[in-house]
Amino acid sequence: MGHVELILNQKGGIGKSTLTVNLAATTADVLSTGSPEDMSPVAAVSIDPQGSAVWWADRVAALPFHIIQAHDDIEGLRSMGNLAGIEHVFVDTPGWIGTDTNDLGDGAAGKALEAALDVANHVLVPIEPEVLGFDPTARTIERIVKPRGLDFLVVINNWDPRDGTTDLDQTKEFVRANGWPLANTVVRHYKVHTRAAAEGLVVTEYPKNRVSMEARQDFQRLALELKAGGR
Ligand SMILES: Nc1ncnc2c1ncn2[C@@H]1O[C@H](COP(=O)(O)OP(=O)(O)OP(=O)(O)O)[C@@H](O)[C@H]1O
Ligand SMILES: [Mg+2]
Repeated sequence: MGHVELILNQKGGIGKSTLTVNLAATTADVLSTGSPEDMSPVAAVSIDPQGSAVWWADRVAALPFHIIQAHDDIEGLRSMGNLAGIEHVFVDTPGWIGTDTNDLGDGAAGKALEAALDVANHVLVPIEPEVLGFDPTARTIERIVKPRGLDFLVVINNWDPRDGTTDLDQTKEFVRANGWPLANTVVRHYKVHTRAAAEGLVVTEYPKNRVSMEARQDFQRLALELKAGGR
């Protein structure tokens, strides 16, 4: 059985896709045998109908993990924990606005999300250190994740150390005050991530300079943390 990690937050632009591909890349890197004939045991699955533009498109063959676009394949989603040879599945989800308590939307996107939630083993919820953006995160956790009894971890993404620690500390405090588990790893803001995403590059392909190494480290630490938690 493969472990299915769902990256979820109904807020858009919070780093779901960035986390998905880079966790897949770092996990694949650790598990790689180095032999090109061996199939990668890692898959990144997108259920975002609009998510393909950035990184699913051009680089599928070159990436060290499988990429599966599955927003319209409910049956496939239901069996993504049972893919032959796949040990880790990271699922990228679209942002959405729910209007009701459990509302994932009626359309195809809602059905895909529901199927992904059904088979997920664990949920990773990115949050940005932006005090004004906390409501969608709270709704995601309280209305979608918790009622389904899913284990989850909140991770702060896109913190720029140059901004100082005030917002970071407030974000940590908000997460703790809600009683939610918070990752020790903070994924910092690096321009190289923004640039790389536009080119379809993942962290393991970054140039070997100091800044890129630092940027990559956050994802390596986060991947380890997820693993250490048995997830
Ligand atoms: N840690 C980071 N450092 C620098 N840029 C980042 C970081 N995380 C995300 N970004 C950038 O922020 C933008 C939004 O990130 P991303 O696309 O991963 O969010 P998303 O939650 O998937 O958005 P959507 O809900 O629209 O799918 C992208 O341009 C991405 O490159
Ligand atoms: Mg996205």
